[in-house]
Amino acid sequence: METNKILGAVILALLLLALFSKTGEMLVHPDFPDETAYKIDVPEEGSQSESSEEAVDPFEALGDIMPLLQTASLENGEKLSKKCSTCHSFNSGGANKAGPNMWNIVNRKKASKDGFAYSAALVEFGGKWTYSELNKFFLKPKKYIKGTKMNFNGLKKDSDRADLILWLRSLADNPAPLN
Ligand code: HEC
Repeated sequence: METNKILGAVILALLLLALFSKTGEMLVHPDFPDETAYKIDVPEEGSQSESSEEAVDPFEALGDIMPLLQTASLENGEKLSKKCSTCHSFNSGGANKAGPNMWNIVNRKKASKDGFAYSAALVEFGGKWTYSELNKFFLKPKKYIKGTKMNFNGLKKDSDRADLILWLRSLADNPAPLN
């Protein structure tokens, strides 16, 4: 009989404790919704909202490069090529380095320099390095040819890419026509 009372008291005490701690918890930790009201969308640098980025293909959005080539600066193009020269040689018969030699690059078939181990991505991309293809590739190499081994972020300025491409054009036995 005594034990039953004691047991009853203990159970009651535990129940009360559980009840109070639950109420306390509810008072101290009201449930906030998971989604807080002050979430702020910070746009990524240089991009607008995601939806507009999807809607506009940055490569399709590039204008015709030909008019830019007419007024491009060979001198600035040569300067910009310093960014490439750790990985590319530019002279006729020059060795392949981390990247393939650039002699005769304009209108050369993609991934066709002998003795260079290209990525499957570039081999499968296909086509020739026309002015327009070079322009797109140099904008964002890794975005234009997903899976390329060329580890270079790209040149944002339209005029810089035109200058560089005009200079690359000069690296040929017979430079490609400019019209
Ligand atoms: C960090 C090294 C690196 C830098 C810097 C670099 N490239 Fe490349 N480039 C590569 C590699 C590696 C490849 C081969 C890519 C592949 O196989 O996917 C390549 C491929 C190319 C191709 C295609 C060649 C072909 O035969 O199809 C062109 C054109 C090119 N680079 C031009 C440039 C220019 C111009 C610059 C400077 C603005 C530059 N690269 C900067 C490493 C580099």
